[in-house]
Amino acid sequence: MNYICILNPKHTNILQSSRGSFTSRFGATVAVGGSVVGLGNIWRFPYIAGENGGAAFIVVYILMSLLIAVPIMLSELSIGRQVRLGLHGAMEKLAPGRPWKYTGTLGVATALVIVSFYCVVAGWALNFLGRSVVNDFAGQSPAEITGGLKLFIDSGWRPVVWMSVFLALTSGIVFFGVEKGIERFNKILMPLLALMLVGLGVNSLFLDGFREGITFVLKPDFSKIDGGVVFQALGQAFFSLSIGMGAMTVYGSYVKKHESLPRIAGTVAVSDVCIAILSGIAIFPAVFTFGINPTSGPELVFMTLPNIFQQMPGGYWISIAFFAILFMAAITSSVSLVEAIVVWLSEEFRMTRRRALALATGTVFALGSLCAVSQMEGSSLRVWGMDIFDLFDRASSTVMMPIGALLIVLFAGWAMDKAMLRAELTSEGRFARRLFVPLRFMIKWVCPVVIALLFLNQIGLI
Ligand code: PHE
Repeated sequence: MNYICILNPKHTNILQSSRGSFTSRFGATVAVGGSVVGLGNIWRFPYIAGENGGAAFIVVYILMSLLIAVPIMLSELSIGRQVRLGLHGAMEKLAPGRPWKYTGTLGVATALVIVSFYCVVAGWALNFLGRSVVNDFAGQSPAEITGGLKLFIDSGWRPVVWMSVFLALTSGIVFFGVEKGIERFNKILMPLLALMLVGLGVNSLFLDGFREGITFVLKPDFSKIDGGVVFQALGQAFFSLSIGMGAMTVYGSYVKKHESLPRIAGTVAVSDVCIAILSGIAIFPAVFTFGINPTSGPELVFMTLPNIFQQMPGGYWISIAFFAILFMAAITSSVSLVEAIVVWLSEEFRMTRRRALALATGTVFALGSLCAVSQMEGSSLRVWGMDIFDLFDRASSTVMMPIGALLIVLFAGWAMDKAMLRAELTSEGRFARRLFVPLRFMIKWVCPVVIALLFLNQIGLI
C-alpha cells in the first residue's frame, strides 16, 4: 500500500495537512508502514522465496532489509525531510544544476514499470475476489485450481479485462482525488491483513504439509546461497520497502522535525519483514500439502490460496475477505504510482492533470496489456528468455531500484552536507546520536559497496 505521490510537494502538503496521522510518530509509522506493505509481501515474497530455496534466502532477505535497506530508507527520508520536496525537486535544490535530479526521473520510470505489472497481478486478485463471491472454487481439486489459473492467463484477453477494470478504478480514484478517503482505511487495513495472515498461519498447523512447509521457511540450508540468491534478496527488500524510487523521500517530507527517523524506519522494516514471513508461513505448508511446486513463479500464491480457503471452516467468507483486502492493498499502491507519473507529466511538460492522467492511464494500459498477453503460452513477446511481465518484475527490483538506491545513498553520503544529514538522522541531536557515525558509515560505504559488488557479480565481472 502506498498512499502518496512521489514528486509533487504541493500535493504532499495538502495530504499532510489533511492527514492528522503525521502529527505523531505513530501516525508517521503507520503511514510509511502502510506504504510498504502490499502485494510485495503477500504475492511477491513467497514466490521469490520459493524460487530461491526458502529459508536460506529468507535469512539473507532479513539481513538485506535491516542492514542495507534501512540505511537507504533513512537516506530517502532525510533528503525529503530536509527540503520538504520529492526526490527530483529535493536533489535539484540540494545540488542545483547537477545531474542528481535525474535520480527522480528514474524513480518515475520505475513507478511506470512497476505499476504495469502490478495492475496485472491486482487484476488476478480482483478476478479471484469475484470468483470467491460466486463460490467458483468450491469442490475444485488443486490440479483444477492450477489448471483454471493457467487457462485464465492463457486466454490473454481475460487478464487484460480484469487489469483494465483495476486500472479504471485506480484512475477514477486519481481523477476524483479520493485517495485521502481510502488512506483512512490504512489503520484498519494493515492490522486486519496481519490478523488474517496469523489466522492462516494457525490454520497451517492442521495441514499435512505443515512440517515440510515450515522446514522450507524456517530451516536454512546455507549451501543454497550464491550471488544470485543474495541479489534476489536485495531486490525483494527494495521492492517490499518501496525504496530506490523516491516514495520515501515524500514521506520524509511529511515527518515533523522532532520525530526520530531511525525509529520510524526500524519499526516499518521490522513490520514489513514480519508480514512477509507470516505470509510465507501461511503459504508454504499449503504448497506442500497440495503438491504445488514452490518454484511455480508469480502464480504460486494464486494457485495455493483457493485450496487453503476450501478446507478451512468459514473458508467462503475468509476467501472473500482476504482477496478484498489484497485488492485494497493493491489499489492504494497503484493509485500512488499513477499519481506519481501524473504529477511528473504535469510538472515537467506543463500538462493539465486531466491530460496527464489520460496519458498515464493509456501508457499503463498499453504496457500492462503487453505484460498480461506476454504470459500466454507460446507468446513471442519475450526478451532475454523472459516474458514482458517477468522482465518488468525483475528489471524494477533488480536493476532500476538498486540503481536508484545506489544514487540515493551516494547522494546522501557524499553530496549532501554532513551536518544536514546529522540533523536529520538525529532529529537535531534529539535521538540516536550515537547511531549517527555507524549509520553514516553504512550510507557512505557499506550500502554502495554491497550494491555495486552484487551488480558486478551479476553481470559476471567478479
Ligand atoms: N512496496 C509495495 C509492496 O510491497 C510495492 C511498491 C514498490 C509500491 C514501490 C510503491 C513503490 O507491495
